[in-house]
Amino acid sequence: MERTFAIIKPDAVAAGHTGHIIAMIEEAGFRILAMRREHLTRPVAEGFYAVHKGKGFFAELIEFMTEAPVVLLALEREDAVAKWREVMGSTNPDNAAPGTVRKLYGTNIGRNASHGSDSVENAGIELSWFFRGSELG
Ligand code: RTP
Ligand code: MG
Repeated sequence: MERTFAIIKPDAVAAGHTGHIIAMIEEAGFRILAMRREHLTRPVAEGFYAVHKGKGFFAELIEFMTEAPVVLLALEREDAVAKWREVMGSTNPDNAAPGTVRKLYGTNIGRNASHGSDSVENAGIELSWFFRGSELG
């Protein structure tokens, strides 16, 4: 079993798509180990996306991720990292496959409805950024 970290981003939560995205997660065979709705503060969002600091879209990304509450999820499945990225679709919703979260609910490359870890190593780092070990039942 592998774990990954997911965020339902502010655009999708505000638009009322949380329930359907959680259903898509469960239908794809993930077990939800932990889940929490939270309004990210600027320091938390900046720390989480520190790898993108210095890039042209960083300020816009932090503004977006802190504009309204998100839903944080710890997910478990075989091949969880790759599978969740498949269910999400490409970063840019224009390029995302039909039926994916980002095709259904993303607006553009910045406002793209969801996050998923990009490696098993980063999944571990991101999960421990948001959840205590004891929460990941
Ligand atoms: P994420 O980390 O959110 O799961 O997305 P990702 O791996 O598919 O894409 P990444 O390159 O890590 O970018 C992180 C997030 O930054 C925003 N972004 N905006 N305006 C732009 O050109 C641009 N590029 C990236 C998106 O919200 C992207 O998901
Ligand atoms: Mg990424």
